[in-house]
Amino acid sequence: SLRGSFAIRDQKSNERPHYGLQLEASYKVAILGAAGGIGQPLSLLVKMSPLVSDLHLYDIANVKGVAADLSHCNTPSQVRDFTGAAELADSLKGVDVVVIPAGVPRKPGMTRDDLFNINANIVKTLVEAVADNCPDAFIHIISNPVNSTVPIAAEVLKQKGIYDPKKLFGVTTLDVVRANTFVAQKKNLKLIDVDVPVVGGHAGITILPILSKTKPSVSFTDKEVEELTVRIQNAGTEVVEAKAGAGSATLSMAYAAARFVESTLRALDGDGDVYECSFVQSDLTDLPFFASRVKLGRKGVEAVISSDLQGLTEFEQKALEALKPELKGSIEKGVGFVHKQA
Ligand code: NAD
Ligand code: LMR
Repeated sequence: SLRGSFAIRDQKSNERPHYGLQLEASYKVAILGAAGGIGQPLSLLVKMSPLVSDLHLYDIANVKGVAADLSHCNTPSQVRDFTGAAELADSLKGVDVVVIPAGVPRKPGMTRDDLFNINANIVKTLVEAVADNCPDAFIHIISNPVNSTVPIAAEVLKQKGIYDPKKLFGVTTLDVVRANTFVAQKKNLKLIDVDVPVVGGHAGITILPILSKTKPSVSFTDKEVEELTVRIQNAGTEVVEAKAGAGSATLSMAYAAARFVESTLRALDGDGDVYECSFVQSDLTDLPFFASRVKLGRKGVEAVISSDLQGLTEFEQKALEALKPELKGSIEKGVGFVHKQA
């Protein structure tokens, strides 16, 4: 049996019995940008999921070989490849979850916003096709700048008349993965136990780890809070600089995205206890989109969790206020991009 064989699944869910749930491979997942730096390892990790029956790999080039290669793994899902705009619609038919890591990555010296001009068009085109071919699917946006590409996707879906805010997600799982790793290292904790909510957005100071809400409860000095916060906010840049022109995080991103896909599939499968941080439409703050923990259910976001923003430390409260203008600007830039073209 493949039950419990999925390495990404967190300890908690491994321990929890799946009351009456059939962990049966029955979901269709499409990955758009599947031949890329993130796309390839992400495709491998999703191929390992016991919940996936069909894995559709789409890219503008190089995807045939990736699919042929992956299709030899003896895990349940059937892999199919789709190349270029003419095959995009077919890649999306009947799909439950669409993951979008298509687009260009940063080089040293660039901000995520420097990717806007290229990636905005890519995301817009791909989400239009999602709207036309699998309007009920959950959409996971990885392409940067996430703070703008998610609002772009929302506007495209609105124009198509099928926007369901509960099903559109900006993938910020990597921020949580990093926060958990760095906190566990700094405080000598068992990695598997540590869970840090990360809120706001996915760029620079808009990434706000709420260290005071770390589980298990940990105490930090002011200096530790500042150092950890800055490291988590700059972790993407740390990788961009180490790769020195060869791109940004791909392997840790694939790991994080696979965890988010698996959580979504578990929620679709009826698990009533699935929580992840994600950048979603939200009324937690005065901004239209905001990353926070959300409860996932069969219909997408079942609840936006507000408790992580209650009782913030002075440091966190200040950082929250400081991130709002930048996040607001990035959201408005995304919305404006779609309206300008309409
Ligand atoms: P990459 O260049 O290695 O791969 C991108 C892939 O997208 C390529 O295979 C390319 O052919 C494909 N592509 C380009 N245009 C396309 C289109 N119109 N349709 C389908 N596919 C298309 O880049 P990467 O390292 O995989 O990064 C991809 C994106 O993910 C970047 O924008 C990067 O900034 C972002 N990213 C986000 C996070 C996050 O936390 N959300 C983390 C890491 C990277
Ligand atoms: C990351 O956080 O690693 C990604 O957003 C890629 C980047 O440009 O830093």
